[in-house]
Amino acid sequence: MVLITGGAGFIGSNLIHYWTSTTTETVINVDNLTYAGNLQNLAELAGDPRYIFFRSDIGNIQAICQILRKYRPRAIVNLAAESHVDRSIHDPDAFIQTNVVGTLRLLKAVYSHWSALGASEQDEFRFLHVSTDEVYGSLEPGAPPFRETTAYAPNSPYAASKAASDHLVRSYHRTYGLPVLITNCCNNYGPYQFPEKLIPLIIHRALAGKPLPIYGDGGNVRDWLYVADHCAALQRVLERGRPGEVYNIGASSEKTNLEVVHRLCDILDEGKPRRDGKSYREQVAFVKDRPGHDRRYGIDATKIQRELGWKPQETFESGLRKTTRWYIDNQQWVADVTSSAYRDWIALHYGERAG
Ligand code: NAD
Ligand code: TYD
Repeated sequence: MVLITGGAGFIGSNLIHYWTSTTTETVINVDNLTYAGNLQNLAELAGDPRYIFFRSDIGNIQAICQILRKYRPRAIVNLAAESHVDRSIHDPDAFIQTNVVGTLRLLKAVYSHWSALGASEQDEFRFLHVSTDEVYGSLEPGAPPFRETTAYAPNSPYAASKAASDHLVRSYHRTYGLPVLITNCCNNYGPYQFPEKLIPLIIHRALAGKPLPIYGDGGNVRDWLYVADHCAALQRVLERGRPGEVYNIGASSEKTNLEVVHRLCDILDEGKPRRDGKSYREQVAFVKDRPGHDRRYGIDATKIQRELGWKPQETFESGLRKTTRWYIDNQQWVADVTSSAYRDWIALHYGERAG
């Protein structure tokens, strides 16, 4: 049995689907259902005895201890977090509360449970902390991509809070011997991603006939990984990763934002042409840049490839086509998650009402 925190979010719900379809294990999902958590993502699993859901904050030590005592999972995968950079710029407090304080309190609960286990259960137990490449800061053009040994230099409140959580997790290994693993992954995309992040936001707004906001000059670079490939990597790290180690996960698929948006427009032009026959590229609108906007991220995934034998299955093109198709086919899901809270965010951030 494994316990996944943040399982109602984007990567978490993909990971739960991945786990239940590739193993026979039971999965426990602990999520407090913020605006980003959506149980509809897991509707297919309702009533499945291999899936158990608890609505709880990761910072609720008593609740987490009770769940751990009752179910004795062999591993925890910690995905619960506030995850959107722009929101962290507007209001960092929730990021500190969940990503830093919440992770510390989760570690306390897990450590108290783990220290009471027998020796062999202790040896086999794993705490996998899922983090981001943003902790490493911004790369200069032409600089080598991030390695596990790259110094941390977080620039946004989001990245700083994730960096702090990584350090806390590491300290629980070095100080108390908890068998932890840390992964730092590049930007994910795929089904069930909340349409505040670039790729689903662009698809949603393109189909709604709205401007496609590109921050600054659109030359910022991200390394993009299809979410199912991230899920496979997390499973592999849990199976074969060495406690105390860090693994960078990435696809070596660096693209500028403008390249991403143009490619999305072209795929939509083919799959869901505009009524007036013009290209969705006509909707592109350059807007004010994000403060502190990191210019470039890139991951060197040599370690996980060599040591654990993982590599991505999707190319950027195949992943983007699958993702676009999913959003075209699941417009009801998008309509459901773009609730009043979503509209408030769009109004605050982009200065307009969302439709
Ligand atoms: P998300 O925002 O879609 O989902 C986060 C989930 O965590 C939601 O279901 C939310 O309800 C839950 N949550 C938030 N605060 C909680 C709390 N205090 N207690 C319990 N549950 C809580 O995020 P995501 O994109 O799926 O990211 C998941 C993890 O992966 C995060 O830790 C993020 O930093 C990391 N990550 C994301 C990406 C990416 O591109 N999305 C890349 C690398 C790493
Ligand atoms: P985002 O999906 O927010 O992920 P992150 O900031 O964690 O990398 O943004 C991806 C890139 O797209 C980033 O360089 C910011 C840019 N971006 C836009 O240009 N316009 C937008 O409306 C959004 C949300 C992001």
